[in-house]
Formats: sequence, structure tokens, C-alpha cells
Amino acid sequence: MDYIVEPSRLFGKISVYGAKNCALALLGASVLTHDEVILTNCPSIVDVNNMLSILKLMGKRVLVEGDKVSISGHLFTTCIPKDIAKLLRGSSLLLGSMVGRYGSVNLPLPGGCAIGSRPLDIHLEGLNKLGIVVEQSKSTVTCFGTPKGNVYTMRFPSVGATENMLCACCLAQGQSTLINCATEPEIVALEKMLVQMGAKIDGIGKSVVHIQGVEGLHGTQFQIIPDRIVAATYLSCALASGGSITVNCNPKDLFAFLQTIASSCKLSIYKNAVSLQSRSLQGVGQVQTGPYPQFATDMQPLILSLAALSSGSVSIIKEDVFENRLANQCNQLIKMGAEISLKDNIAVVMGGNLVGATVKALDLRGGAGLVVAALGAKGKTRISGIENINRGYVDLAQNLSNLGAKISCS
Ligand code: EPZ
Repeated sequence: MDYIVEPSRLFGKISVYGAKNCALALLGASVLTHDEVILTNCPSIVDVNNMLSILKLMGKRVLVEGDKVSISGHLFTTCIPKDIAKLLRGSSLLLGSMVGRYGSVNLPLPGGCAIGSRPLDIHLEGLNKLGIVVEQSKSTVTCFGTPKGNVYTMRFPSVGATENMLCACCLAQGQSTLINCATEPEIVALEKMLVQMGAKIDGIGKSVVHIQGVEGLHGTQFQIIPDRIVAATYLSCALASGGSITVNCNPKDLFAFLQTIASSCKLSIYKNAVSLQSRSLQGVGQVQTGPYPQFATDMQPLILSLAALSSGSVSIIKEDVFENRLANQCNQLIKMGAEISLKDNIAVVMGGNLVGATVKALDLRGGAGLVVAALGAKGKTRISGIENINRGYVDLAQNLSNLGAKISCS
């Protein structure tokens, strides 16, 4: 299945569902208790559905009613099913909770993907610091032992490693201190849910977090935060098309992105929404991706397309998080006539007119970036590999066509 996209203007209002990367972290944490954990505003996307299948196959009771998901019960195995685990990076987010609750986990390595090698060394070094025995083969990682509180400094504020360490430390014996933690909104949501479940966490949203291990955690209900990457995607599509839209989100969660596009549009910022009225695209200046609150790497493919569409401007984009992300995306945009010179992880983009072409979504956010480019290009664009897009977007084509986009599946 491909997308066929033609230049078209977007107008209207769209509501953004729960964040994939929040849902996956909270689903991982649901393993920490056999009580019922209810998540609302849960997106029905491939990655989340695969994570629910993993939990079900391992023994959890899973009930899905619309955007409300209920998980309860015990696991009868700590071996994560290989055929599903390798489909998503999110399966690695079971490491910490399974070690914390069961003292054991066997994870088929999720493998690298188009955006980079994505090793797990920071996760595993952290678990080892808690006294966990870590054994790694070519295809799986096995961890076992009872976590004991300790101090661990991450060499990089890894989102996944922070999530795994938070989960493992909640039920560890004694006090832990995690230093150089990631502080993304999805991490804050996880910390808040863990506290609601009875965890003793001090330093929510901070890069140094103290956790006092407890005997056990109880169930809770938690609303998943809006997906800031999806919100940025819709705003980018509107901007590329010369349209005007309003999208619900937590504006502070995408502040760096909003700052970057502000010169090309009129932005109205509300408590839980952003309205955008396009002006002429002015390029994106100099952008460097990094851990929150720096510019989010997942939004980099979006502004790369906007930069390529900004006639007469020169933009510089440095991708400092995933080693392959930028080159992959530039190669696709160059097929649409983008003028980009790429050296290492820096792209210098001479904005101009793009023309419709046949391109491929090599990863989830790269695919979204191609939709942005296609909405502002001249002529028809065919985007293949949209199964990658469906991993993280609910009905992207339908939602965009509801706003006036000429986008269809074929
Ligand atoms: C999470 O991935 C997100 N995925 C990614 O979103 C997001 O791009 C990323 O965080 C950064 O914000 C989920 O939450 C499921 P990292 P994660 O650990 O946890 C290196 C999307 O499209 N690293 O912060 O894997 C790693 O290779 C996805 O929704 C190690 O070297 O990101 C990367 O270069 C894409 N060793 C950098 O750190 C480790 O042990 C950041 O990775 C861990 C990470």
C-alpha cells in the first residue's frame, strides 16, 4: 500500500490522540503490578497493539475498549515472544519492569533500524549497577537477580534507559540515584504514573532522580499525554500546504519546534492547543537535535522538509541523536528535487521548489516528513513503505484528508 499525495491546502481543527512513546513506556510499567492498570487516551497504532499482544502472550489480562486499555494479572513467563519483540523497539521497555517485579527477563534483541544501531548498553549497564546479572548473545539478552539500590550515571540521557531504570529501581531494595536522566514529557508521565502506583520518586522531570525502593506497587488509572510528534506533524503539513489549522497538544512539549517555525507563520498558543496560520516559508535557520528540551530528533524530518520547501532560504540541520536518520531522509527529498549538501550529520538545505516523485518511508517519522514535503511539492508524489507510518500514526491519510489534503492510498 502506498500514499498518493498532491499539493493541497489544510484548514480546520484536529485532535491529537495519546502519544505512542508515552503509551509504550506505561504499558512496560504495567508489569510492575498484578493489579489493574487502566490507560486512557491510548492510541490504536501498530506498535501499541504489538506491545499489548506481547503482554497478553506472557499472561496479562488485556481489555481494550476504544481508547481505554486495562492490563492486569500475573505473567506466567519472563521470556518475551521473539516474533513480536523484534517488530518494535518498545519491547525493550519491558526490561526494567520485569527485572524489578520478577527478577528475570529474556529479551530477543529488537535490533537496529533505519535511523541507527540503537544498542542497549546504557540500559544493561544500569541494570548491572543494580546487581543484576546481564548475559548477552547475538540475538537475546537475559537478565536475572534482585535489584539493589545504587547510584548510576548515564553516559547519555537515553529515554528508554531512563524508563527501564525508573521501573527497576521502584521495587529495588534500598535507595537509588539516577544521574543524567532523560527529561522528555513521556518520562515525566511515567514518573507521575509510578508515583500514583505507590513508587517513592523524588525529582520528577529532573535529570537527577532519587528512588526509594518499595515492597510492591498497586494499580492505577492514567491518561496518556497528547502525542507532541503527531501535533508537530499536523502543524508541519499545514505549514507546507500554506494552510491554517488548530491542533490540541501541550505547547510546552514542542516549544523548540514552535520556535523554529515561528518566522513562517502566525502562531496562537493556548493552554492545550496551538493554532497556526501560514505565511511564506522562511527556512528553519540553524537546528540541532538533542535530548529534551532541545529540538526533538523525531521532529527533524518534519523541519527538513519545511526547509527544503522554503524558497530562497538556507537552513542548517544537525542531527545529534540518531546516526542514520538525516542521510536517509535527505536521500528521499533529493529525489523530489531538494538541494541539500550533507556532511556527516549536518545538512545544509537550499530551499526551493520540490516536485512530486516516487519516494519511500524508511522509518516512521521519515515517512511523515515525506508527506509534509509532498503537500508543498508541485505534482503528484507516491510514498511507499507506509506500514512504517502506521506504526505511529492513527489514520494519517484520513485525518489529513479531513483537513482538505489530497492524499489517498493505493
Ligand atoms: C525513544 O527511543 C523513542 N522511542 C524514539 O522515538 C525517540 O526518537 C528517542 O527516544 C529520542 O527521543 C520510544 O520511546 C519507543 P534513546 P530510545 O535511548 O529510547 C543511543 C519514534 O519515531 N543509545 O534516547 O531508543 C541511541 O542509539 C522513535 O517514535 C545508546 O547508544 O532513544 C541513540 O543514538 C524513534 N545506548 C541515542 O542514544 C543505549 O543503551 C538516543 O537513544 C541507548 C541509547
